[in-house]
Amino acid sequence: MPRLCVIEGDGIGREVIPAAVEVLQAILPDLEIVKASAGWETFKQCGVSVPEETLAAVRECGAALFGAVSSPSRKVEGYRSAILTLRQELGLYANIRPVCSLPAVSHRGNVNLVIVRENTEGLYAGRERLEGDTAIAERVITSVASRRIALRAAEVLRLDGRRRVTIVHKANVLPVTDGLFRDTVRAALEKTRQPYEDWEIDEMLVDTAAYKLAAAPQNLDVLVTTNLFGDILSDEAAHWCGGMGLAPSLNWGDHLAVAEPVHGSAPDIAGKGIANPIAAILSAALLARYHWKMPAVADGIERAVHQALAWEIREDGRIPPALRTEEITSAILRQLEHAL
Ligand code: NAI
Ligand code: MG
Repeated sequence: MPRLCVIEGDGIGREVIPAAVEVLQAILPDLEIVKASAGWETFKQCGVSVPEETLAAVRECGAALFGAVSSPSRKVEGYRSAILTLRQELGLYANIRPVCSLPAVSHRGNVNLVIVRENTEGLYAGRERLEGDTAIAERVITSVASRRIALRAAEVLRLDGRRRVTIVHKANVLPVTDGLFRDTVRAALEKTRQPYEDWEIDEMLVDTAAYKLAAAPQNLDVLVTTNLFGDILSDEAAHWCGGMGLAPSLNWGDHLAVAEPVHGSAPDIAGKGIANPIAAILSAALLARYHWKMPAVADGIERAVHQALAWEIREDGRIPPALRTEEITSAILRQLEHAL
């Protein structure tokens, strides 16, 4: 039985993560839970946003469900972003962001794509400096990171039975960095693809990909791309889920994974009991599908969410105050119980 480290974090993380844990425990009653802390409140109490015990707990469990944390809008001495710390310290080099239409709440009915984003380098390598009145950021692309993200994309293709992977880059303007990314990813995909596998490999410039994501998202399948492009494209694509409360993600390393809803701590609605728990619940399903290799558990959770939305919930993605976090959670739990 897998073990799970639960990090609620700040704001609505404390409302949506307990809902997701309840759903996981309904389908995996023997799941062992270890609680740990991270975020702004943790920083105020302990002076660090991610204590060593939290990192140790995630390593020991092999998997975590993370809510969201609040970050100060000004620089605070000693504060380091909790989610960036987790990604870096735990080697979570792939960020998996599926975008699927959901009944009743999504803006389109036929979207089913996954963005596989490189999570450790690119423009987010942290190499920024000021030289006189010129600000410079270095964009770091390595063949090691490009190869491992390609292999992760191939794993997603296989586990989901998907048909096409598109390498998204800007090699026409950045021939050295994105040339290396494109060529390394393509070579790794071609090498790993078995003769009996019939998925296709193609490529697209990032600006075209942005346009296609807006105009015809139903034609896209798996997109694999660098850190900044993946960050922007996945937020754009999340629109098709139907709202911030509905978009899940998985930070995935070789032996560790941290699932987290895409949204933040939402201080504007925190404490009101109206946060949508579906992004967090679908993030738990990602952990089951990709990291724990329990597709039946993931399918069960996703089906319950779809059925609850189709039959019990008919409002838009930002749940109305009339439909509270606990009501959505109960609707999903009811669907799960019918199925079990
Ligand atoms: P946000 O995602 O927290 O909120 C944006 C808007 O979406 C708000 O109007 C909020 O009410 C709504 N929203 C978000 N999640 C929702 C849910 N589950 N149900 C219903 N409505 C929902 O982003 P924002 O406001 O830019 O940032 C707030 C705080 O969260 C900041 O301190 C920011 O640094 C942090 N943040 C943390 C992230 C993380 O921990 N991974 C990611 C993004 C932001
Ligand atoms: Mg983002």
